[in-house]
Amino acid sequence: MQSEFLSAMAAVIDSGKFAGGPFVERFEEEFADYCGTKYAIGVGSGTEALWLTLVAMGIGPGDEVITVPLTFVATVEAILLAGAKPVFVDINPATYTMDPSGIAKVLTAKTKAILPVHLFGQPADMGRILEIASAYGLSVIEDAAQAHGAEWHGRKAGSLADAGCFSFYPGKNLGGFGEGGAVTTDNADLADRLRMLRDHGQKRKNQHDAIGWNSRMDGLQAAVLSIMLCHLETGNRIRKHHALHYRKALSGREELMLPGESEGTSHAWHIYALRVSDRDGLLRDFQTHGIGYGLHYPVPVHRQPAYRAYASGESALPLAEQCADELVSLPVGPELEDVQVEQVIEVIHHWTDKTL
Ligand SMILES: Cc1ncc(COP(=O)(O)O)c(C=O)c1O
Repeated sequence: MQSEFLSAMAAVIDSGKFAGGPFVERFEEEFADYCGTKYAIGVGSGTEALWLTLVAMGIGPGDEVITVPLTFVATVEAILLAGAKPVFVDINPATYTMDPSGIAKVLTAKTKAILPVHLFGQPADMGRILEIASAYGLSVIEDAAQAHGAEWHGRKAGSLADAGCFSFYPGKNLGGFGEGGAVTTDNADLADRLRMLRDHGQKRKNQHDAIGWNSRMDGLQAAVLSIMLCHLETGNRIRKHHALHYRKALSGREELMLPGESEGTSHAWHIYALRVSDRDGLLRDFQTHGIGYGLHYPVPVHRQPAYRAYASGESALPLAEQCADELVSLPVGPELEDVQVEQVIEVIHHWTDKTL
């Protein structure tokens, strides 16, 4: 595979098309095609994909955007960078994604958009979210940064709403050799505005119609991502295989609450996160046995020092808080061998046997 990357990168070097250009355009076409949307707009990162989408939709000061507190901070950061106010609703503790039943309670005349996160690769409850959005005339932006290839009723994440925002940070299901992101959409006007905003607000050279930013995707990154995209489905299949392996081996242990796949969805298993009430106990055993694990996310965004002002009340988001205390992410990914998954399972079995 290394020679494939080297020759793709050599082609970019020979062309001198490093910032935007034909390699980016090719990747944009391939990615839009993969997601089943008319357009994909390559940008500098997932954070910029979210931020520029909000700006392109005209969402800014005085507006409110409904989102979740259990996510990577960038989801909320982007709303604030656009000048709007994040309004949190709690999550469903089984899927870890937005609980649509909380939306009605926080709707105001200022609400402009809903920003669900397909956390860990599990598509959010889009049916109910889209229904509410259409009833109240709100835009819906998918944070699909962890959900490349995930599906909701046979449709790919990124094609389910007004826009889908992706990150290509290394380690994502579709990760590059550095920073990158994209927005997918069927809306031609939105796509045009995004292309303008990512290039200093210019539609044509030396004509700046809007205040934009430099968020052009690198040609080298796009060439790498075109190759990575060919391997995405295989990688996702291996992730699913590991997730099923964990489920089969760990179900029935009452100390553990395992993640599932919501009905009608295909999970991308970017992260396999289960809930354990005595998390510290399990983590001690993981450390003793050298098992790599992750915590996503131990402090929900509304508890972070920079975001506390946007929390609606002391315990208004109890399920996100409980999940933040209990979630532990097990190793998963195309590079992981079955025998390594077995080792993780063995340590967990040993720990649950001890706690009986
Ligand atoms: C849910 C979520 N949203 C947004 C982002 C931001 O993407 P990036 O790191 O490419 O800016 C990430 C990245 O980890 C993410 O996980």
